[in-house]
Amino acid sequence: MKTLGEFIVEKQADYPNAKGELTGILSSIRLVAKVIHRDINKAGLTNNIIGNAGSENVQGETQMKLDIFAHETFKKALMAREDVAGFASEEEENFIAFDTQRGRNAKYVILTDPLDGSSNIDVNVAVGTIFSIYRRVSPIGTPVTLEDFLQPGHRQVAAGYVVYGSSTMLVYTTGNGVNGFTYDPSLGVFCLSHENIQIPQTGKIYSINEGQYLKFPMGVKKYIKYCQEEDKATNRPYTSRYIGSLVSDFHRNMLKGGIYIYPSATNYPNGKLRLLYEGNPMAFLAEQAGGLASDGFRRILDIQPTELHQRIPLFIGSKQMVEKTQDFMQQFSGE
Ligand code: AHG
Ligand code: MN
Ligand code: MN
Repeated sequence: MKTLGEFIVEKQADYPNAKGELTGILSSIRLVAKVIHRDINKAGLTNNIIGNAGSENVQGETQMKLDIFAHETFKKALMAREDVAGFASEEEENFIAFDTQRGRNAKYVILTDPLDGSSNIDVNVAVGTIFSIYRRVSPIGTPVTLEDFLQPGHRQVAAGYVVYGSSTMLVYTTGNGVNGFTYDPSLGVFCLSHENIQIPQTGKIYSINEGQYLKFPMGVKKYIKYCQEEDKATNRPYTSRYIGSLVSDFHRNMLKGGIYIYPSATNYPNGKLRLLYEGNPMAFLAEQAGGLASDGFRRILDIQPTELHQRIPLFIGSKQMVEKTQDFMQQFSGE
C-alpha cells in the first residue's frame, strides 16, 4: 500500500532540479482535504456548517457556511507556506498576494473552488474541492499580479480535486497522468487506489441539467435527443445521471465513461461554471486521463482568460462523446 505522501516524494525524485515546493504545496492541499472531510462528516450534527451564511459571493450566488469555511481553511493552509505567492478563490472577489517578505522565492499561484456542489451539503450528497496551480509569470520577489492568474489552462503545473463521497478521494495530475488516492480516516492517510486513471474513449452516461432544456442552444438540444435515441450499434439510449456537483459527476464519468455538459443557456449566456476554478483544472485532468474538454467549439485549455471569475460553457469527459457534441454544436450553430 502506497500513501499519497510517499507517492509525492517518489515523483519528486523524477525531477532532479525540483526544490520540493510543489511537493510542499500538495501536502498542504492534502491537509485541507482532511480538515474539510472531517467537518463535512459532522455536517448533520452541527449548525455551524449546514445552511446559508446569509451572504452572497462576487457572482451573486448564495454562500453556504461550508463554502466560507472551506475557503478560509484553504487560504490559511496556503498562507502558512513560504512557497505560495498568491491565491484566488471562487468565494473572494480579488486575488490575494501573499507577503513577499515571507515568501521571497515563492513562484506558484493557487486557484480554487473550495467547495463545489455546495447546494448538496445540507442533504448529505457528495461535494468536492477543486484546485489549480500555475507558475507565476511576474518576477519572483514582487507581489503577484492579475496576469499570474489569467493564464491559459495548458500552462497549469498541477490540478486536482477532492471528492467527499461515500469515501473521500483526492485525484490529481502534474501533467504525467492522473492518480487517485482514497482516504482511510482511521489512519488519517490517503492511499493510492486508482493508479494512472484512463477515461474510456466513449461511454453510456450523459450528465446535464435537463430541466433547463428549453434554454439550451440547438446543438445541445439535438445532442440530448441523440443520447435518448435507440441504436444498438452505439449503445443508445444512454443513461442520464446528474448529481449537480461537477466534481462528483465528472469523477463518475471519468471512471465509467461519459460526458458532463453545462452549456450556455438563455439565463447563463456564458454557461455557469467558472473557467479558472472549474473548467481549467477539470480539463487538465480530463486530457491527462485521455479525455477531452471543450466549450462546444474550442479546447478549454487554449482559452486565454480575461477575468478572474469568467464563466465558460463546459463539455467534458470521454473523447468521442465530447467530439460528438462539437459536431452538433457546429452543425446547429446558426439556429
Ligand atoms: P458551486 O457549488 O461551486 O457553485 O458549483 C456548482 C456547480 C457545479 O458543481 C454543478 O454541476 C452545477 O453548479 C449545478 O448547477 P445547476 O443546479 O444549475 O444544474
Ligand atoms: Mn463549483
Ligand atoms: Mn464552489
